Amino acid sequence: MTKEKFTPLSAFACRREKRKFSMLSVYDYPTAKYAEEAGVNSLLVGDSLAMTVLGHEDTVSLTMEEMLHHVKAVSKASQYSMVVADMPFMSYHISTQQAVENAGRFLKEGRADAVKVEGGYQMAETVKAIYSAGISVIGHIGLTPQSSGQLGGLKVQGKTLENAKKLLNDAISLQQAGAFSILMECIPAKIASVIHSKLDVPTISYGSGPDLDAQGLVAADVLGLFDLFQPKFSKRYAEIGTGIKNTFSKYHDEVISRNFPDSEHQYNVSELVLENFLLHLKSK
Ligand code: KIV
Repeated sequence: MTKEKFTPLSAFACRREKRKFSMLSVYDYPTAKYAEEAGVNSLLVGDSLAMTVLGHEDTVSLTMEEMLHHVKAVSKASQYSMVVADMPFMSYHISTQQAVENAGRFLKEGRADAVKVEGGYQMAETVKAIYSAGISVIGHIGLTPQSSGQLGGLKVQGKTLENAKKLLNDAISLQQAGAFSILMECIPAKIASVIHSKLDVPTISYGSGPDLDAQGLVAADVLGLFDLFQPKFSKRYAEIGTGIKNTFSKYHDEVISRNFPDSEHQYNVSELVLENFLLHLKSK
């Protein structure tokens, strides 16, 4: 069977046929390549990039140019995985025209397949404008880190009746506006499951339980590369960060103890050339 590119239509097929698909937040060429080779269906160039890779304090300071730079790298590595560009804070809030222009840049310059915007029903007009421009767009509800100030911090959403009702309304508004998928972050599993059941579009869970069509995690968390905090929902499958530290430490020790480079890791020259070179210097 020939391998096919995963697209928004593939996500709909998964929902229809009750098959799961996977998403990983990745930000660079090698990680994207490994993820694609591992069969991961979709790669989100998430604005978590700001904290996990660029060392920013939060996601709000990430710029369009920083995000584009990383989207380009991930797209180059991805032949089959669907690449989704996360629209940075203030790249889609000022006007629908600004939102469409910037979403368009992610497709034209970044070669992404789709974009993602944070926010609920208040983003419906923006999602509609992006969708109307022919761009596939994912709506992100629940914990939306770009507006964590309004949410009172990075907190689980949907724990009260009022909030659960709001999240359902958010999801339906975004679906009606043209979002091809709804990503739910940090919503209690049972509330997310109900919202999923009221939607027709495929749903993606980042910490919102097992019932949604897709599961997503941040690659830096999965690999053990980010230590500042560990969300309850993310599973650490490896300790690559510790592996990197131990490897660098070994290298450093070998430099200090003069064990690196050894004869295997240097270039040789013939004795004759060396002798002539030294003679030449002496004759000067
Ligand atoms: O930036 C990111 O990786 C995200 C996911 C956590 C949904 O937005």
